[in-house]
Amino acid sequence: MHEQLGRADVAGLGAPYAEPRKIESLSDCYFYHTMDVPGHGTIAGEWDLRGREGEYLGHFDFAGKRVLDVGAASGILSFFIEKQGADVVSYDLSDEFDWDIVPFEVNDNKAARESRRNHLRMINNGYWLCHEAFSSRAKMVNGVVYDIPTSIGSVEVSVFGSILLHLRDPFLALENAARITDETIIVADLSPYSKLKSKFAKNPKFMPRGSDPHGITDGWYRLPPLLVEEYLRILGFEKARIEWHKFTYGSQERWIYTIIADRVRPKRNV
Ligand SMILES: C[S@@+](CC[C@H](N)C(=O)[O-])C[C@H]1O[C@@H](n2cnc3c(N)ncnc32)[C@H](O)[C@@H]1O
Repeated sequence: MHEQLGRADVAGLGAPYAEPRKIESLSDCYFYHTMDVPGHGTIAGEWDLRGREGEYLGHFDFAGKRVLDVGAASGILSFFIEKQGADVVSYDLSDEFDWDIVPFEVNDNKAARESRRNHLRMINNGYWLCHEAFSSRAKMVNGVVYDIPTSIGSVEVSVFGSILLHLRDPFLALENAARITDETIIVADLSPYSKLKSKFAKNPKFMPRGSDPHGITDGWYRLPPLLVEEYLRILGFEKARIEWHKFTYGSQERWIYTIIADRVRPKRNV
């Protein structure tokens, strides 16, 4: 019976796709990315990837692929990948799930988690507003990255754009996506070291400071590319290349690396 369905339909059987939301007002949204949205013009966000999405994603050719965009936020990468002719599943938290807050004993972590959930609702709203404005067919699944449902079905490619740094267990996150990824994992992230120093460095940089409980509470590790490469090799994505870019975030120029890692043999463990 399944032979008569498209591949995405087969994969989608039982998949917990989120119901698209009708968003009436920009004031219900938060934009993580600066986006040019049909009918709404340019909406300013924290992070401007416009025109450089392809570079950020390692110049990968997504045409004809089924792709999981992990940590989609406002969706700029999902919509870019879809435009290249891919079938996209966006994945992100929603207001039903908790961010990996750094649980400083002296902080009110319950309140911080609650406030994140409200923020996530507005981020999700921004995604849905764009989804409609771009007439996107991308699907959204909400959940934590350590629990990516296998009912999504197989994808050829998984993309991790600037999410690993927010996780207390980045290896587990990659392992979860690897279970359903047949060909390639792409990781784009902020480098802890310069391009030159990263040739040798394998130690992650732990970001929160015990002495500064009001400093970084939403991020954990900046992972050097050699370490991420090692993680991916362990998970079966053994053939990797790295690209480097400089992006401006806030007022600072930062080194971002993109790893494009391919399986060299079919996956064994699901
Ligand atoms: C910095 S944004 C990255 C957005 C986009 N991928 C990019 O590369 O610009 C990080 C995204 O990861 C999501 N995220 C953070 N922690 C997560 C978790 N534990 N599980 C699932 N998604 C998470 C956030 O909600 C957010 O949308």
